[in-house]
Amino acid sequence: MSYGARDSGDYTLLPAPGETDGESSVDTAGGLMSATSAILSPHGAGAPAFTQVKANFELVAKYGDNVPLYLFSDMFLRVPALRELFPVHMSRQRERLMAALSFAVEHAHNLPEITPYLHQLARSHRKFGTEGEHYEQWSASVVNTMQRFSGNMWDEGLEEEWRDFLSLLTRTLSEGARQDASLRPAYWTAEVISHERRSVDVAVLRLLVDRPFKYVPGQSAPVEVRQWPNMWRYYSMANVPRRDNTVELHVKAAGAVSRTLVCDVREGEVVKLGAPVGTLTLNPNTGRNILLIAGGTGFAPIKAVLEHVTKLPVPPWVSVFTGARERGGLYDLDVLRDWEQKYPWLTVRAALSELEDQSVATTGTVGEAVSRYGRWEGYDAYVCGPPAMVDGTVAMLHANGFTDNRIRLERFAGAATPSRRFAI
Ligand SMILES: Cc1cc2nc3c(=O)[nH]c(=O)nc-3n(C[C@H](O)[C@H](O)[C@H](O)COP(=O)(O)OP(=O)(O)OC[C@H]3O[C@@H](n4cnc5c(N)ncnc54)[C@H](O)[C@@H]3O)c2cc1C
Ligand code: HEM
Repeated sequence: MSYGARDSGDYTLLPAPGETDGESSVDTAGGLMSATSAILSPHGAGAPAFTQVKANFELVAKYGDNVPLYLFSDMFLRVPALRELFPVHMSRQRERLMAALSFAVEHAHNLPEITPYLHQLARSHRKFGTEGEHYEQWSASVVNTMQRFSGNMWDEGLEEEWRDFLSLLTRTLSEGARQDASLRPAYWTAEVISHERRSVDVAVLRLLVDRPFKYVPGQSAPVEVRQWPNMWRYYSMANVPRRDNTVELHVKAAGAVSRTLVCDVREGEVVKLGAPVGTLTLNPNTGRNILLIAGGTGFAPIKAVLEHVTKLPVPPWVSVFTGARERGGLYDLDVLRDWEQKYPWLTVRAALSELEDQSVATTGTVGEAVSRYGRWEGYDAYVCGPPAMVDGTVAMLHANGFTDNRIRLERFAGAATPSRRFAI
């Protein structure tokens, strides 16, 4: 049994490249990494190989989900208060935790190599209320768990190696959290100041954030609603940052959290926002024109990028393609049509894949519409929506000669950790 950290896609999003001010959470080579590198000498020179830990983990991993089940039971029995920091449903949690641990064990001989990942993990854990002592309790439960599943293979030497490894790991996590705490709050609170139901399953919410909330247009932020504690889901800000600290979110009801945001949340409700992340942001220096392609509420970050373009002194030509299954999915088309009237450099096309409504949209997928309507040699593409829509569109772009460096994308995957984005 392998927990498959590498293949699981369980890497958290990085902030946009170029976000380099004091609030940035980008791990620059000489920045956040440097302190850890001082503790851990990179690439071997005197660094422990942790060979026993690696071999032991491989054996124990054969027990599959029983391992994290035991680990969490041990931790919650010893420190019951920790249970409140986790979501009600733990299955996804167990999977992710073991994927992350497996990944760390794989790199045990050279943890500095994955320090940016560990720092990002620790940063994202600040909003869960996770602190240094919690990581220590977790480490103690890892040791108990490994011992439990190792039988008579367990001895003092192995235990000591595990403790050394976990101590390095948790120091790196704590250090990442500490550095981030000097830059930003663990989370922001935001009041819902308007809630518009645009269709059966889509709502547009405006939030008033309690303090300045810096992000790059096109980024997303994790949101927690009081009805589902500790279940954070990412939503993209649909506007450029505003002086009045308001943000617009477009939400499609798909599961527990999104349904609550669409159907139950009303004006006056307070939600929590985590630090913004993501790389679907405008690259204004390519000199190329811009093709923006959105599926459903994937229009949210695309709208923010488009608004960003409106602020450029000399905007390039922009073509927006927005698609949905049926008319209700084109919930913001009127705004787009207004902008099309206002900005001579902007063209808007809508596509409906399941219902024909020639008065507002062409028939077919948004990818088909892009293919049909033009030659895109001089364009960069930005694509966002559900995974199947994004993958289909990107395949079409490749077929039309786009190389990856001309495509930025965001998949609305259903996990709290979005796409595999973390470049080590
Ligand atoms: C970086 C990022 C940005 C995102 N931005 C937005 C956004 O601006 N607006 C938005 O509505 N969603 C967005 N999502 C998706 C969102 O984070 C949640 O995954 C979604 O709301 C479902 O969460 P849930 O708790 O309601 O349901 P869950 O129980 O977590 O999931 C239910 C099912 O819904 C599927 N699903 C997730 N999103 C969609 C969708 N948009 N359409 C159809 N099915 C979906 C999931 O794959 C899963 O199978 C984003 C996701 C990521 C990773
Ligand atoms: C006791 C300490 C910890 C607490 C309280 C904690 C809590 C949480 C919570 C609440 C979530 C989000 C669940 C969701 O949204 O559905 C989460 C996610 C996650 N945790 Fe932890 N966690 C702890 C320790 C760790 C450690 C030590 C690791 C790695 C070795 C880890 C790896 C992850 C990963 C990979 C995710 C998903 C990614 C993310 O949301 O950033 N956790 N954790």
